[in-house]
Amino acid sequence: MNAILAWLRALFGADEPALADATAADAADIARLHARSFRRGWSEDEIERLIAERSVLAQCARTGRKLAGFIMSRRAAGEAEILSVAVARERQGRGIAQRLLVSHLGRLMALGTRAVFLEVDEDNVPALRLYRRAGFREVGRRPGYYAGRDGKPANALVLRRDLT
Ligand SMILES: CC(C)(COP(=O)(O)OP(=O)(O)OC[C@H]1O[C@@H](n2cnc3c(N)ncnc32)[C@H](O)[C@@H]1OP(=O)(O)O)[C@@H](O)C(=O)NCCC(=O)NCCS
Repeated sequence: MNAILAWLRALFGADEPALADATAADAADIARLHARSFRRGWSEDEIERLIAERSVLAQCARTGRKLAGFIMSRRAAGEAEILSVAVARERQGRGIAQRLLVSHLGRLMALGTRAVFLEVDEDNVPALRLYRRAGFREVGRRPGYYAGRDGKPANALVLRRDLT
């Protein structure tokens, strides 16, 4: 029965998450997903404060009440930095991050942003594929920027995407 329901949901797109701007009510779910996705988690309070900042743009992807993913950036002087993006492990590989990123870049552009930057671990293959497909290019490298999983420091790549 569950298999049939899952098949029907997939067939009629009910599994396709809806994108919306994040509000304070999303902070707890975002904090949980952030903690599962990164070595250094952000507290619910930190996330709530970020969402409340006028310069921060935060979007969620939800299927019903379930958070599938989120993306967050901060704008300053015509530029923006992607602060974080994550998709729940069980929902990865289905284009959710790509949808979030494309929508986010469109929103940033509409807000007058000319260039978007981010830092990414050079070993993070899914993230690099996501960003490269969205038109980000490497503009710098920060050696030993992240504490690696095995204690070995990992390098960060600085990526840039112009929105003109
Ligand atoms: C990075 C992340 C957000 C991608 O989310 P996602 O919804 O699975 O991504 P998408 O399905 O939109 O796919 C984006 C690209 O990643 C690729 N990808 C997804 N999962 C992958 C995997 N496990 N291995 C290799 N490539 C993968 C996809 O094939 C796609 O590339 P393509 O368009 O060249 O085929 C997700 O892996 C994640 O949350 N990771 C943990 C947090 C993180 O590292 N965030 C980025 C910090 S800079």
